[in-house]
Amino acid sequence: MEENIIPHHFKIDRAQRAAQMGHPSYVLWFTGLSGSGKSTVANAVEEALFKKGVHTYSLDGDNVRKGLNNNLGFAPEDRTENIRRIAEVANLMADAGLVVLAAFVSPYEKDRIMVKQTVGGTRYIEIFVDTPIATCEKRDVKGLYAKARRGEITNFTGVNAPYEAPVSPDIQIDTSKVSLTDSVAIILQYLEEKQHLNHE
Ligand code: ADX
Repeated sequence: MEENIIPHHFKIDRAQRAAQMGHPSYVLWFTGLSGSGKSTVANAVEEALFKKGVHTYSLDGDNVRKGLNNNLGFAPEDRTENIRRIAEVANLMADAGLVVLAAFVSPYEKDRIMVKQTVGGTRYIEIFVDTPIATCEKRDVKGLYAKARRGEITNFTGVNAPYEAPVSPDIQIDTSKVSLTDSVAIILQYLEEKQHLNHE
């Protein structure tokens, strides 16, 4: 099949879109345990970027696992397919000129490497939300750790499924030690240094 798919060359390219948007596009990939604070930090960063006039969009379990990926569970091969589809969507959104904030457990190193390959090395910024499991479990916002400990959920990351910590994340934040305000500041400072914010 794929051999008969011949790419069309679009007239508007990425550089033109970036010029019109006023900033480059890229993917901020938040990985970490359930309850580590990925979505909270991602949402706060999105708000800060939005206020600066950056065009953003957030992807997380709520808007992806309920729709596009509603046929996938948490077995290793389902998680891999979950992340593969999200990587493709994030890549299209970045191609469209958006700054994408993606918050997914994404526990497997090989899947995160695949995301990086899909969106392109320089457009992939990995943020490891490195909150200790004891803190995540104490927060247990969704009550899922308690359920997993009771054996009511299988394949639960950190309890009865693995989390492979990133080897060399671009940014690492432990939300049990760093406040939300400081977490946002760390990420914005990184983006500023990389000249990833608005062109003057
Ligand atoms: S991923 O591993 O495939 O990247 P994803 O980020 O989409 O996971 O979804 C994780 C969210 O689903 C968790 O924050 C939690 O709320 C919920 N969840 C339900 N079952 C599980 C499970 N077995 N392991 C981890 N998270 C689960």
